[in-house]
Amino acid sequence: MAIVIAITNNKGGVGKTTTTLNIGGALSMLGKKVLLIDLDTQANLSSCFGLSTNQESHVGNFILKEIEFKDVMIKGDEMDLIPSSKFLIESEEKIASKTRREDMLKVRLNSIKEQYDYVLIDCPPNLGLLTINAVFASNYYIAPIEAGTFSYLGIGELINKMNELNEYGAGIKLLGIMIIKYHEKMRDTMKKTIITSIKNSLGLNVFNNYVRVDGNLDKSQLKRMSIFKYSPNSNAAIDYLGITNEILGKL
Ligand SMILES: Nc1ncnc2c1ncn2[C@@H]1O[C@H](COP(=O)(O)OP(=O)(O)O)[C@@H](O)[C@H]1O
Ligand SMILES: [Mg+2]
Repeated sequence: MAIVIAITNNKGGVGKTTTTLNIGGALSMLGKKVLLIDLDTQANLSSCFGLSTNQESHVGNFILKEIEFKDVMIKGDEMDLIPSSKFLIESEEKIASKTRREDMLKVRLNSIKEQYDYVLIDCPPNLGLLTINAVFASNYYIAPIEAGTFSYLGIGELINKMNELNEYGAGIKLLGIMIIKYHEKMRDTMKKTIITSIKNSLGLNVFNNYVRVDGNLDKSQLKRMSIFKYSPNSNAAIDYLGITNEILGKL
């Protein structure tokens, strides 16, 4: 039975898509069966599988039961994908008018969970209905934040939202806050600011491994593969494998 993990942060450009692709890549390299779900209308994760952003069959159709899993799923070399599309916006409006609009994705995933070890959901950069569906469908969430920026300041809002959804029956737990785009020379300032404030003020888990700045991540996405296929010895591959091992140790 798959463990479902949402990669979420209500900010854009903080590494959600990159993290979904590469934790997925690491798990796949470790022999796990992985399904990725692209829930962002920008469809960046789907582009990493070579798909256009105006894909006709997409996750919105799947949530609304307009299409079967086997007809929407894309098989990749490393892992499988339920793609997104710019047309997902139209589905989101339809989902909003349904009675059980928060847990429709959860219900749809129940029937396919035994086919995978892990399902990773790449969330949109907001706390709207699609993210809420991801939260209800997931056992855990990972929140990536960028080192050296103030993106960590928004984490409190994210945590509050998760706690609120848990009161409504979601049942999601924080797996960890993940720091990306880390530079060796930031070490001292970052320890003082980001890590201390996250740990002290929020009492949250921060992964011990950080993902260093590595241009190979951009390049691997253009080549439509995870960092583990594109450049297995790169810093980013080493760091994402470290985080994935931490995750496996926690589950
Ligand atoms: N560790 C990193 N080093 C360098 N570039 C990175 C790193 N992580 C992510 N990026 C780049 O930052 C940009 C934003 O990341 P992305 O995963 O698309 O964020 P989000 O999905 O949260 O919007 C992308 O161009 C991505 O390739
Ligand atoms: Mg993204």
